[in-house]
Amino acid sequence: MIKISHHHQTPSLPKLNPMLISTLQLSSFLCLLLSTTITAAAVDDNSPWLPYTPTDYILLDCGSSSNTTDASLRSWDGDVRSQFSPSNIENTSSNATSSKSVIQVPYKTSRIFHSQFTYSFPVSAGPKFIRLYFYPVNYSELDITNSFFSLTSNDYTLLNNFSAFLTVSAMKPAVASLIKEFIVNVRDNQILNITFWPSPNSYAFVNGIEVVSMPENLYIRGNDHPIPLVSENQRFYIDNNPALETLYRLNVGGNEVSITNDTGMFRLWSPDDDYTYEDYGFTPHRDVAIRYRQETPPYTAPKIIYTTTRTMGNDSLRYNLTWKFPVDSGFYYLLRLHFCEIQLEVTLKNQRVFIIYINNQTAQRGADVIQWSGGTRIPVFKDYVIMVTDPDGRQSKQDLWLAMYPELDFRPEYADAILNGLEIFKLNRTDGSLAGANPELVLSPPSGPFTLSPQKKNNKETPRWAVIIGTVVGGGSVLVLILGFLIFRRRRRVKALGSTQPKSSWVPLSDRSKSTKTSGSSLPSDLCRRFSLEEITSATCNFDDNFVIGAGGFGNVYKGHIDNGATTVAIKRLNPSSNQGAREFQTEIGMLSKLRHLHLVSLIGYCNDNREMILIYDYMARGTLRDHLYKSKKQPIPWKQRLQICIGTARGLHYLHTGAKRTIIHRDVKSTNILLDEKWVAKISDFGLSKLGPIDAGHNHVSTTVKGSFGYLDPEYYKRQQLTEKSDVYSFGVVLFEVLCARPAIILDLPEDQVNLAEWARHCYKNGTLDQIVDPNIREEIAPECLKKFGELGDSCLRENGFKRPGINNVLWGLEFSLQLQEEAEMKGQGDGGGGGGGGGGLLPVALASPLTPPLHGESMTDNDENVLRSMTNSDKLKNMTLFSEIMNPMGR
Ligand SMILES: *[C@@H]1O[C@H](CO)[C@@H](O)[C@H](O)[C@H]1NC(C)=O
Ligand SMILES: *[C@@H]1O[C@H](CO)[C@@H](O)[C@H](O)[C@H]1NC(C)=O
Ligand SMILES: *[C@@H]1O[C@H](CO)[C@@H](O)[C@H](O)[C@H]1NC(C)=O
Ligand SMILES: *[C@@H]1O[C@H](CO)[C@@H](O)[C@H](O)[C@H]1NC(C)=O
Ligand SMILES: *[C@@H]1O[C@H](CO)[C@@H](O)[C@H](O)[C@H]1NC(C)=O
Ligand SMILES: *[C@@H]1O[C@H](CO)[C@@H](O)[C@H](O)[C@H]1NC(C)=O
Ligand SMILES: *[C@@H]1O[C@H](CO)[C@@H](O)[C@H](O)[C@H]1NC(C)=O
Ligand SMILES: *[C@@H]1O[C@H](CO)[C@@H](O)[C@H](O)[C@H]1NC(C)=O
Ligand SMILES: *[C@@H]1O[C@H](CO)[C@@H](O)[C@H](O)[C@H]1NC(C)=O
Repeated sequence: MIKISHHHQTPSLPKLNPMLISTLQLSSFLCLLLSTTITAAAVDDNSPWLPYTPTDYILLDCGSSSNTTDASLRSWDGDVRSQFSPSNIENTSSNATSSKSVIQVPYKTSRIFHSQFTYSFPVSAGPKFIRLYFYPVNYSELDITNSFFSLTSNDYTLLNNFSAFLTVSAMKPAVASLIKEFIVNVRDNQILNITFWPSPNSYAFVNGIEVVSMPENLYIRGNDHPIPLVSENQRFYIDNNPALETLYRLNVGGNEVSITNDTGMFRLWSPDDDYTYEDYGFTPHRDVAIRYRQETPPYTAPKIIYTTTRTMGNDSLRYNLTWKFPVDSGFYYLLRLHFCEIQLEVTLKNQRVFIIYINNQTAQRGADVIQWSGGTRIPVFKDYVIMVTDPDGRQSKQDLWLAMYPELDFRPEYADAILNGLEIFKLNRTDGSLAGANPELVLSPPSGPFTLSPQKKNNKETPRWAVIIGTVVGGGSVLVLILGFLIFRRRRRVKALGSTQPKSSWVPLSDRSKSTKTSGSSLPSDLCRRFSLEEITSATCNFDDNFVIGAGGFGNVYKGHIDNGATTVAIKRLNPSSNQGAREFQTEIGMLSKLRHLHLVSLIGYCNDNREMILIYDYMARGTLRDHLYKSKKQPIPWKQRLQICIGTARGLHYLHTGAKRTIIHRDVKSTNILLDEKWVAKISDFGLSKLGPIDAGHNHVSTTVKGSFGYLDPEYYKRQQLTEKSDVYSFGVVLFEVLCARPAIILDLPEDQVNLAEWARHCYKNGTLDQIVDPNIREEIAPECLKKFGELGDSCLRENGFKRPGINNVLWGLEFSLQLQEEAEMKGQGDGGGGGGGGGGLLPVALASPLTPPLHGESMTDNDENVLRSMTNSDKLKNMTLFSEIMNPMGR
């Protein structure tokens, strides 16, 4: 954040004027980034105590005649012979089948309705969550695209002529199922009815129904709590039994918070990354104790919501911190903004004050979290209501904007804004309806150089919508895979890659470049140096083409000399319009300046004068690993040297996964990101996509949009969008086979079973024919024992199920062991193998910080999921886009 001045002790601070603003003190962006993103480990928080215990809690697995258990270990009752369903329902259940996904409760079975049908729940009075689970696939020969129905509950119309199929098809990122969440207030002596009304000549279906009570005044707070109606300078009262639909519930600046980690109501909190707009600010978080107060009781939101934030950083005066949410027009919306100050700098009133805009209208002046809450670490929330009008008089999707900007008129100490959590609800219309129109089905026109089209035969009737657009970006071969590329907006065509990512508006880290001295270190801990543009232009003779040593869609890499020629460096100049935009630039600096390791490429500094995004690294004389394997004229490298390179890389990954305070997941391990210095030491590079692992040790994945490189991408990661360090292990497994076979991860014009190296190598390994695909240059050299061990190791890294892959420490162990087998064999081969290979060389390496367990020992090879999951990586499926529409995300949204 920008510290404005030290005047805050003086009550009569002069009004901030533009001149003053231009002299704002810049607290280093890196300082903030480093001190806040890499914070210390988890507190022990396994207490089973929950702030709220629902009085009504019903889970109905529709279509099931037995009781079942879901992935969160919640137990569901079958609805056959259930007290909640009528008795004549026996012939309407159906089992879901899918060859491509693992189907979970309650999606395994569904109830089909050809005529009106009511479930009745005798619940206590008060507001209830109703969650409806839909997995739209063909059931019992019924074409799912023909299912349209309405849904009513008591006096409300929750859905009207709704198609779960169209809705799921339009969701982004791609999912297979969805959960609709409503809040309905049940009055005294009322029964909660949920009625399905099939549209004419159609049918209704549902997979599961969940009814959960909530604290009386959690959302529906009555006349004592009027809500500002934005733009109309009026108050809005939510009192007369509204019905609400939850549209968004976000852990702003943080990861997904699972239903079991909610405060007892099983609400799912998603990350906000998909909704940030253009400038996404910073996401500081601190694992501190949250001090709940009476006005914001502990059940309001879980602690983790408040410990993660999104703020503006040091460029705050240039932009609005903005989010954008598609909503149906013609409804009132309730926005609940959750706040909590957790940063060390902000403890007093008037330190951080900001304006909140909703739909470009001022919703709140002088927002001051400390003033509202009474202190640091005390959570508080604010509700606002806004009408989203229908400009063209018919129902359509509109964007609901939320934006924040520093409130300079209040002369705060910091020019910044903050948000911790956000919930957006749709309110029923006066006719009691919450229903919007179905999204339109649009067959997206593919674009981009690398588009695969569906191979479906009758795709005229059932068009498939999932499109992968991989963009090959030049020699660097960055292939970004975007799943769920589905945009269904009226009259809008799906745009190319760039549009699914925040627009690449590059933000200078500071606009002060002209007014300050440019060289030298403005950085806190001399970790990373800031260069002036003059230094860089002189190092590269004004970016002379003769200095280019690498190029790609991200921009060029130049060789340069700094410090009067004393040091040779690699200078990566990011193209501001590239996909590898500001976020990656910042990630790279943030991650890499903090890390120092023999097997990680060192970041020497950066330059962001004049809107440039330039990174300066140690020069790696021998270029990328890939250049030494194939597609170049370089001398093939011997097997033992390849093993050493793999070992070095594994050491670098081991450091990333275990050496820092929090696990760092590289996310883009591949042979072009492994560089070699003069002495053939392997160094991992390109941290632009890296992610910090989960804060809690128990929270074992990061939920995130799938990014990475084609051919190296962990199938489990793109299937579940949950990132773990085992995703890096998978990618590294692909690299191991690249090194062994000297071929690319994907070769599209090979026979189908050979397209994908991961598939093909595993296949050969299982059939005992791995030796036949070994690079001919090393075939003579590699010892059979070593090949066996190496193959086993590579195969284990590529297991479908992340749990069954070895940790990187075991991979490292296995590689060192392979090297040892190779060396022993060579000694024997030379005939002087005295001591039978058990001599000095026979000691197992224990060079690592953590104690090692022998790898792969006793691991079960029976992989239940294997067959199902295999289809996800089959090379033929790779060409068939239908695959990606089947990706299963049982949590939906
Ligand atoms: C399922 O569980 C409910 C209680 O939750 C019980 O009443 C019912 O008998 C069970 N049904 C079966 C088939 O086990
Ligand atoms: C179930 O039975 C009813 C009559 O009892 C019939 O109208 C309906 O079509 C049947 N549904 C299915 C899916 O067979
Ligand atoms: C669904 O599967 C269960 C168990 O496999 C079986 O008992 C039941 O008959 C199936 N129901 C239908 C409608 O196919
Ligand atoms: C669903 O059923 C329809 C009609 O029977 C059929 O045309 C369509 O291919 C089926 N879809 C799938 C995904 O099986
Ligand atoms: C719920 O359904 C039952 C039976 O269908 C009906 O008697 C009752 O009036 C309904 N309750 C409400 C609140 O609609
Ligand atoms: C921030 O948003 C408000 C409302 O849309 C707008 O008036 C203002 O100009 C924006 N400020 C910046 C810096 O973009
Ligand atoms: C609101 O502001 C955003 C940019 O912040 C702009 O794209 C959008 O068109 C504006 N909406 C209206 C209704 O003015
Ligand atoms: C929602 O429905 C209730 C009851 O039907 C009605 O009193 C209320 O006015 C509706 N809310 C709005 C915002 O129209
Ligand atoms: C929920 O939080 C606890 C403790 O914070 C953690 O151990 C657990 O893994 C989390 N569960 C999920 C599913 O995120």
